Formats: sequence, C-alpha cells, structure tokens
Amino acid sequence: MLYKLLRPALFSLDPEDAHRFTLASLDAAHALGLLKLLPRAHGKSVRVMGIDFPNAVGLAAGMDKDGAHINALADLGFGFIEIGTVTPRPQPGNPQPRLFRLPAAEAIINRMGFNNLGVDNLVKNVDASSFKGVLGINIGKNKDTPNEHAVDDYLACLDKVYAHATYVTVNISSPNTQNLRELQKDEALDALLSSIKLRQSELAQRHGSYVPIALKIAPDLDDAQIAAIAALLMMHRIDAVIATNTTIARDTVAGLPNADEAGGLSGAPVRAASTRVVSALARHLKNEVPIIGVGGILSGADAHEKIAAGASLVQLYSGLIYRGPELVRECIQHLV
Ligand SMILES: Cc1cc2nc3c(=O)[nH]c(=O)nc-3n(C[C@H](O)[C@H](O)[C@H](O)COP(=O)(O)O)c2cc1C
Repeated sequence: MLYKLLRPALFSLDPEDAHRFTLASLDAAHALGLLKLLPRAHGKSVRVMGIDFPNAVGLAAGMDKDGAHINALADLGFGFIEIGTVTPRPQPGNPQPRLFRLPAAEAIINRMGFNNLGVDNLVKNVDASSFKGVLGINIGKNKDTPNEHAVDDYLACLDKVYAHATYVTVNISSPNTQNLRELQKDEALDALLSSIKLRQSELAQRHGSYVPIALKIAPDLDDAQIAAIAALLMMHRIDAVIATNTTIARDTVAGLPNADEAGGLSGAPVRAASTRVVSALARHLKNEVPIIGVGGILSGADAHEKIAAGASLVQLYSGLIYRGPELVRECIQHLV
C-alpha cells in the first residue's frame, strides 16, 4: 500500500538514482528499527542443498552487488539473500545510462556490466553485517579477463567467499559481459565445472565445512542445450541450478519505449521463458539437482508457477521494483 504511493515518485527519478535512493532509505529505516514493523508472513521452511531455508522466497542477485545492504534487505522477510555478482577486481561496469524501465510491460532492461567494488570489499561487508540467515554469494569474471582465463577468476572469487557464504552461485549467464554466455557451452562448461568442483572439495577439507555451489543459467537456451547443461550438472554433482538470468529476446516487448536498449530484459516478459527452462531442467534432472526458479515473478501465483514447474525455491528482483516489499509477503503466503 505504502509502496503504491511511493512508486510514482521513485519512477520519476533516473532508474539508477532510484535504486541508490531506495537502498539508502532501506538502510536508514533498518537503522531506526522501522523495517521490523512491516507485517510478516509465516513461511514454511524448506531444506534444499542440505541448507534449511526459513521460507522459499529469496532475493535474486544484482540488487546488492557488494553486499552493502544485507541487514536492511533481510528485514524484508526473505528466506535467503543472494549478493553479487562480484568479480575478483573492482570494475566500474558499463557507461550510464545502463538501466531502463518498461512500465507498460512491468519490465526492466539492464546492461550494468558487473559494476562492483571487488571481492575483498564484499567480504568485508559480509563480515560487518549481523545477518545470520542464508546468504548466497554470486561470483563472476572481470570484463578484461579473457574467457580462456575465466576459470581463474571464478576460482579466485570462490577461494575468498567460501568461508563467508551459505552457498555460492557461479554466474555464467549475464548477457552484459562479452562472451560470458559462451561458458554455458559443452566443453567450456565441462572444464569450468570440474575445476570448480575440485576446488570446492579442497576448500571443504581446508575449512572443515561443505559449501554448496549453484550454477546460474540463461533463459535463451533451446531444449538440447538445456539437456546438455543438465547432464553436466548431474555428472559434476553441482548442488543446484538457478534458472534464469535476464533474456536477450525482445519479442515480448517489441515496439515499447526502451525495448531496443541493449542488455538483459527481466520482469513479466521473461516469466514464461524462465518457467520453460525450469520445466525442461526438471524433466532432465529427475530430482537429482534442485532448481531455484527466478524470472518474472510479480505475484504469489507467479511464484507458485515456478514451484509447480519443478523449482524448490524462488527468487525475486524486478517484481520488487513494480510491487515493493509486499511482493515478498504475498509470495511466502501463496507458497504456504
Ligand atoms: C538491474 C539488474 C541487475 C542484475 N544483476 C545481476 C547480477 O549481477 N548477477 C546475476 O546473476 N543476476 C543479475 N540480475 C538478474 C536477476 O538476478 C534475475 O535473474 C533476473 O532479473 C530475472 O528475475 P526478475 O524477472 O525477477 O528480475 C540482474 C537483474 C537486474 C534487473
């Protein structure tokens, strides 16, 4: 209700300014204890990847790339928070403007390009936060690291975040880092997953605890590609798959203002494509690897659609921009 009143003011701002203003306001409200006053839904706990989630509704990666707002975001009632994508070294991302609203379609296009302050800064922020819930840390590669050396970037991030994460997400599906999605292809993915899995078992020994790893994939994959990815997930015993990232398709928004901006499209127009990938994964994975469904969830019914398609957990991003924190509550309640 309150968000409905605030939204026109936020939408009158440049989208990136609105993003910064919203996070700063949430931090201030958290510091004053105001977020604790928000009505809360009582979710059903779920066990996935060997982790107990207090409810099945999480924050998707990209909203808090540096893990600088964890405490405030946790107050919104999420069952888990995913921070990142973080890269080994800080990088500015693409030139602005790089974030666009398509209100008529309840959609966003972004080409942020992994703007972040680097993995060391993220680890400091996680250490400074008092959050005790389920924290996913999403890792990527720097823009200037060639794909032949991408694995080094993922391993460098994995080494640093391992002891600070409840699970780690390997993001190979952003459309805004040139050629990143090439890593979803057979040999490249096989090589990446075997290096990651080997390092995971070394780190598990060193730290005396096993931290699960999830792979985040794109919606722009055909059934043969999804089948090939599923086979590699099972072969390498990857702990979960997150489906999906944003889409490069524009058929669902053709003709709308901003529709021709380069980048990844999210929100309502990606929902069907994401759910199709969740369903196809569920068919191929036969319950061997759990699925986290994300893409175009703007209502409790949309969250349920992902679970019905085979997801064990869901994540939200663009829906929060259009619906506000009420969406978290609605999804949790709907899933109960
Ligand atoms: C502005 C913006 C930035 C994003 N940044 C990231 C990111 O850094 N890493 C990532 O894995 N996904 C990122 N995403 C993708 C979301 O996590 C999510 O997978 C996608 O937007 C589909 O969900 P939605 O329709 O609920 O937004 C970003 C999305 C948006 C809108």
